[in-house]
Amino acid sequence: MTVLGIETSCDETSAAIVRDGKLLSNVTATQFFHAKYGGVVPELASRAHQQRIVPIVQEALSQADLTKAELDGVAAVYGPGLVGSILVGLSFGKAMALGLGVPFIGVNHMEAHILSNLIEEPQPDFPFINLTVSGGHTQLVLVKNPFDYQILGETKDDAAGEAFDKVAKMLGIGYPGGPLIDRYASRGNRSFVKFPRPYLEEGSLEFSFSGLKTSVLYYLKRIGFNSAQRKVMELNPEGLDEFLSDICASFQAAVVDVLVDKTTLAARRFGVRDVAIAGGVAANTELRERMRQAGEYFGLRIFIPKFDYCTDNGAMVAMVGFLKMQKGRTSSLELTAEPSLELT
Ligand code: KG4
Ligand code: ZN
Repeated sequence: MTVLGIETSCDETSAAIVRDGKLLSNVTATQFFHAKYGGVVPELASRAHQQRIVPIVQEALSQADLTKAELDGVAAVYGPGLVGSILVGLSFGKAMALGLGVPFIGVNHMEAHILSNLIEEPQPDFPFINLTVSGGHTQLVLVKNPFDYQILGETKDDAAGEAFDKVAKMLGIGYPGGPLIDRYASRGNRSFVKFPRPYLEEGSLEFSFSGLKTSVLYYLKRIGFNSAQRKVMELNPEGLDEFLSDICASFQAAVVDVLVDKTTLAARRFGVRDVAIAGGVAANTELRERMRQAGEYFGLRIFIPKFDYCTDNGAMVAMVGFLKMQKGRTSSLELTAEPSLELT
């Protein structure tokens, strides 16, 4: 069974082919031009998806050495995400399925992030705990089986990736903030400023990053940092680089401490040995390292997809499409985009 998966929920146009559970190709075009606006501009994102969707799908077929006539199903994300962006991939996927006379499979983007852990070996055994950390979500889930999820905790305000992006903006270092903060933090001192760790009530599996973000803002205000000029008093370029590295390391340490502690707590509370992380923030160097260390300490097996399958990608959509099709869970062509779709 060969399934094409299409992802266009935000600023990545991506297509991939899965045949019998094995990934044959995954082609992604990232819309880097949003950087100059300091965030994703929805209208421009949809237009770019329109321009790229045909060549990206053709490239995914070509890299898999297949023609479209060999597809048994077409899967596309129908939410959550930016409605105009989702509509491009969803409408394209439905039209392609209709044209080829094969089933269409609507895919929940959050479910796809979780099951990105099934793209490559080794894979977690069910049940496993998954932490999805992306630009739009921070969610701890008990994954009992594919399609059977229990949400254990979510963010009450900003998503982890959103906090990275906003702090990067305050520091004037660019967009998207996650990879940039990650790079600065690698050279910084994580104890430079002791930012608060938002654990909430004792034993809580919920998250909140907005207060931490505000602490960074107040700290920068207090010392007179100007994000437009990226000047702290009279620092020379090396001094500025060191300062930014220390702030990034201190902020990142606070986020990672909370993510790692709550995820391992969930695993211990539910008696689960396998723990996975997914989503764009799972690309974070410190988070990956600290999860592995915590895994060793608590005797947990840690699974982290490779970078290409952490950020938005078609491979995870094709994989969910394949699994759903195997179980006969295909969708109607009347399926509409759901920008606020939840994991159920
Ligand atoms: O999953 P994703 O590609 O898109 C969404 O579904 O949101 O995640 C994007 C988010 C952005 O907020 C970005 O700053 C963050 O993932 N991100 C990172 C890193 N790489 C991407 N955050 C921290 N460290 C990274 N290395
Ligand atoms: Zn995502």
